[in-house]
Amino acid sequence: MAFFVISAVTALIAATLYSMSGTTRFVPDACRNAGSYLPAHVVGQDLAIRQLVDAVCEHLAEPPPGVSPSAARAVAPRKPLLISAHGPPGVGKTFTHTLLARALYNRDPAAAGECPGDGCKGAKVLYGMSYLESDRASQLSAVRDAVLDHLRSTSNPLLVVEEYDKLDCESRGMLRQLVRHPELSNASMSRAIVLLESNLGFLDLEAMLTAAGGNKSKITAEAAESTLRQVVLQQWRRKPCESLEDTLAFASAIDFFLPFFPLTRQEITALMRTELHEHYGPRLRALGASLLPEPAAVSWLVERVDFSGDSYPLEGAKQVSTVCVKHVSRLRR
Ligand SMILES: *[C@@H]1O[C@H](CO)[C@@H](O)[C@H](O)[C@H]1NC(C)=O
Ligand SMILES: *[C@@H]1O[C@H](CO)[C@@H](O)[C@H](O)[C@H]1NC(C)=O
Repeated sequence: MAFFVISAVTALIAATLYSMSGTTRFVPDACRNAGSYLPAHVVGQDLAIRQLVDAVCEHLAEPPPGVSPSAARAVAPRKPLLISAHGPPGVGKTFTHTLLARALYNRDPAAAGECPGDGCKGAKVLYGMSYLESDRASQLSAVRDAVLDHLRSTSNPLLVVEEYDKLDCESRGMLRQLVRHPELSNASMSRAIVLLESNLGFLDLEAMLTAAGGNKSKITAEAAESTLRQVVLQQWRRKPCESLEDTLAFASAIDFFLPFFPLTRQEITALMRTELHEHYGPRLRALGASLLPEPAAVSWLVERVDFSGDSYPLEGAKQVSTVCVKHVSRLRR
């Protein structure tokens, strides 16, 4: 009986630790969570999401039961997973890493708390910014301290660097050291996931999509990756921070280049429908009404979104909610 009580208590504590948002450890369901949660919510980025989920699942895979400790060590990741995500603004890069953070640190990502915040304490987001010359040294040491503190205090860190192409040479050097020689940071980095994000290459992705007649399924992961790798290398060589050898080594440390494509009119239409249902539907139900937008009404709203040269929305999905605020929220009031 005593044994029973103890094991019940242990199970309860374990369950509480994981369901309590605020864990800094990847939950055991992280791979499955990512595989269902991300594709269900991100619109129009199947290629990037599929590769991201595969990369994360492979990185987190446990050795099969019964494997000897030495064989288990041989398959365990020895370096952080390093992913570079590219694409125009507003097409889902930030949304994706937020969903990924919820999926990594919560048994039930949909019920997680705020993220960034209590729902994903293991995740840290940094922004690559150009600082004034005079601020640079103090900024660099502040950023370095923040990164190292986070990596040392977090069991399984997710580090996101937005606009990483804007990092100055010193910060880029720090990042390069960190991913190439994680042991130097004294942090447990081998299970860490580092996600770099940038708008770099978005014109190339737009050109690829146009050449494919707007059909994203015609673009292969290899073609997108090869283009993005070249764009990044070219940019780094134009603004050299380190020896060419170090630049090439940094680029080859990047495991995946993910393409986030411009959104098409069809995808904006789908997003508009979702926005109406999820944002305005519940409020109308609370008033005892229901929301059944006619296709013509949805098209009318989509026409209010600014498309560049009639093909891709200038601000990605950002205008979906602002168009609704302008034209729908008043009807509700
Ligand atoms: C890592 O630990 C060693 C020995 O304690 C120390 O000398 C070194 O400065 C530490 N590195 C960092 C980046 O803090
Ligand atoms: C897009 O391309 C895929 C693969 O080539 C093809 O199977 C599919 O039918 C195309 N879709 C459209 C709408 O043309």
